[in-house]
Amino acid sequence: MKIFEPVTMGRLTLKNRVAMAPMTRNRADDDGVLPEYVAEYYAQRAGAGLIITEGTQPSVGGRGYAGTPGLHSDEQQAAWKLVADRVHERGGRIFCQLMHTGRIGHASLLPEPWELVAPSAVRADLTVFTADGSEVPAETPRALEIHEIHGIIEAYADAAQRAVDAGLDGVELHAANGYLGHQFLSHGTNVREDEYGGTPENRARFVVEVLTAMANRIGADRVGVRLSPGGSFNDMRGMDDDETYISLVKQLDELGLAYLHVLRRRSTPLHQQLHDLWKTTFILNTGYQGSSELADLNEIVTSGESDLVSVGRLFISNPDLVNRWEKGLPLAEWNEDTFFTSGPAGLTDYPFAT
Ligand SMILES: Cc1cc2nc3c(=O)[nH]c(=O)nc-3n(C[C@H](O)[C@H](O)[C@H](O)COP(=O)(O)O)c2cc1C
Repeated sequence: MKIFEPVTMGRLTLKNRVAMAPMTRNRADDDGVLPEYVAEYYAQRAGAGLIITEGTQPSVGGRGYAGTPGLHSDEQQAAWKLVADRVHERGGRIFCQLMHTGRIGHASLLPEPWELVAPSAVRADLTVFTADGSEVPAETPRALEIHEIHGIIEAYADAAQRAVDAGLDGVELHAANGYLGHQFLSHGTNVREDEYGGTPENRARFVVEVLTAMANRIGADRVGVRLSPGGSFNDMRGMDDDETYISLVKQLDELGLAYLHVLRRRSTPLHQQLHDLWKTTFILNTGYQGSSELADLNEIVTSGESDLVSVGRLFISNPDLVNRWEKGLPLAEWNEDTFFTSGPAGLTDYPFAT
């Protein structure tokens, strides 16, 4: 099956076309440092052609959940080095997803002087978790000043540098699922009247500038980006327009990035249009709306709809997912109850098929 064949991406040869989708697992300590067993969790999943890690904050102010890791301190970087080393020892490839959560978060997670910030002061109509785990209505974020936007772009470039220094193969900008990058792209969350808002080109500017800064720092072929056009997660329903994504992807294509990673929505053919505009590697996530059956995913890569597919939850419960698929072995069910709990249970204790 074509899905099991190697594929070139940037400067890497990936051993198959199945990527592990980025998944937040909330096991980092209060300083955003990952414990050693998380390195084992990723190493167990090195059979993926590419691992994309959990969302990781590029700065203290980008942290929207208790337990997400960071990549802005030496201690955090050392923990990521252990992850990279363990994955490489087992022949895997790994990109770190960089995620600033913008308006999704809570003041209790942000030490002073950091505040909840976003492109505009538009509140998400949902509940969020505080530092002590209670669920409360989201607060209205403060609109970013221009100099703060430039500071965040710089923080992303610094985190990309730390990723490479830690030995990771590259970084993915999380511009999907209603977090900061997506908040700039959407007309519902970005009502700015300066060069970062208004027209589709202006709304695309932040994501273009972050990716350009990261590419300049570590090389474009070590930088990917994730988009979810039309996605409703995190109260983004009805807030996207196709023009913004088309403008964005046209500009990004010129950078020569490693890949474009898109969450597919069944209701729109936009992902196909974006793929047509894109010259390097394309990764599709069929998301919660599609099938995760091997035959269907193989059809996606065979038909050319995408170069790779990314798979999330099946990798939680099947560390050796690709091997199981290749050998026709049964798959294990995931347990949602341990997606975001603390400790190794639900993370490293899913068995390998024998
Ligand atoms: C526990 C969990 C955590 C997730 N965290 C992230 C994340 O940090 N970044 C991200 O881009 N997507 C995240 N997602 C979305 C997944 O990457 C993926 O798009 C989604 O699970 C659908 O794919 P699947 O049906 O193969 O699981 C998460 C999903 C799950 C289940």
